Amino acid sequence: MTIDFAALPQDFLWGTATSAYQIEGAVAEDGRAPSIWDTFSHTPGKIDGNDNGDVACDHYHRWREDIALMRRLGTNAYRLSIAWPRVVPGGDGPVNAKGLAFYDELVDGLLEAGITPSVTLYHWDLPQALQDRGGWPERETAEHFAAYASVVAERLGDRVTHWATLNEPLCSAWIGHLEGKMAPGWTDLTAAVRASYHLLLAHGLGAQVIRAAAPNAEVGIVNNLSTIHAATDRPEDEAAARRMDGHTNRWWLDPVHGRGFPADMREHYGVELPEKPGDMETIAAPLDWLGLNYYFPQTVADDPTGPAPRVRTVRRLGVPRTGMDWEIDASGIETLLLRLTEDYGARKLYVTENGSAFPDTVRPDGTVDDPERQDYLVGHLAACASAARKGAPLAGYFAWSLLDNFEWAYGYDKRFGLVHVDYKTQVRTIKGTGHRYADIVRAHRSSARRAA
Ligand code: IFM
Repeated sequence: MTIDFAALPQDFLWGTATSAYQIEGAVAEDGRAPSIWDTFSHTPGKIDGNDNGDVACDHYHRWREDIALMRRLGTNAYRLSIAWPRVVPGGDGPVNAKGLAFYDELVDGLLEAGITPSVTLYHWDLPQALQDRGGWPERETAEHFAAYASVVAERLGDRVTHWATLNEPLCSAWIGHLEGKMAPGWTDLTAAVRASYHLLLAHGLGAQVIRAAAPNAEVGIVNNLSTIHAATDRPEDEAAARRMDGHTNRWWLDPVHGRGFPADMREHYGVELPEKPGDMETIAAPLDWLGLNYYFPQTVADDPTGPAPRVRTVRRLGVPRTGMDWEIDASGIETLLLRLTEDYGARKLYVTENGSAFPDTVRPDGTVDDPERQDYLVGHLAACASAARKGAPLAGYFAWSLLDNFEWAYGYDKRFGLVHVDYKTQVRTIKGTGHRYADIVRAHRSSARRAA
């Protein structure tokens, strides 16, 4: 498998990604208040092994060591998220100076190391205080998000140019409010649709305040999209695939591109949107870039009696899978990058997450050999370069994840890191895939130098 390096721009961002609750730990330090994930993970039975993010990778104290790891990987970008409950612990109201200072120092540390910070403002950790007032189904949550975004952009906007408002609003809305498998753990379609609306409104309001506070900011949104296939060519299954595409992809892409919420899905959900005049324009404010998180394709069949979107996922046999039991199909990332380019007119794209979990062990000689993860990485990078060759304006790739970390409802058992973390000792070990990524980054740099 070869990667067409010449298809990638010379100033390509080679990054790794993490999120606050998954790595920081220090949940009760320096004024941080609980988020919905603290509550959810401490509710017995919600997380495999009853794990939680109390300590995680202890990145709050070890961030210098983690930047040193990024340097060893040779990466030139790092995608992090800010914990809202660290910066504005009550969700609205007083700013916590110590929380803001943590990110300030982290950004300086990254810049000193020659690593471009890419900041995501919301990666699922809503302050519990706002959840207690209704959470994302309530409009005021979007307004409080904008106020919090403004605080962060004013503090970091002189040094951070790369901003994302939200990470994977699909998970917050659908998995958190409809399927109940993520915080806050609801199973209520009306709440889920209202949450989805207010998340996108928060995105639009957030984009405005970031631009106001940081005029050089490049603002985007990060969506987890999937290629969707019908299980058979029966019209019912084809219609199910169309619904799943609406639920997974179009519901999140169309409104930010000025197309409104897809009519077929509005009818399917049958929930009135909490729309006010001007909202759709706010949601559709032009963006500088789109972020794609891609992990797996989905094959679905009609499920007339199931909950919205009334589809059943079909497990295809004889196809390779990761340790998450997710099907591996690198062509999906190319398809989606081209769809964003051709159907949505993306001007700049980043793969903001892509990666795989497999069980790992540190061998007696201190190495971690993970050939399956390496194959996943190389296959997906080759597909990204192929999309770029065909015209996708791909400007960077962020491997998920820098470190093994708290994989939400799966706890610590699923390891996505380029770097292995021993959670007992907090010892970090670069895995084979991390070394391979470093080789890839070096190879692209030399090919870019030769071409210059
Ligand atoms: O760990 C998550 C991340 O927080 C969001 N995107 C998918 C990853 C793997 O499940």
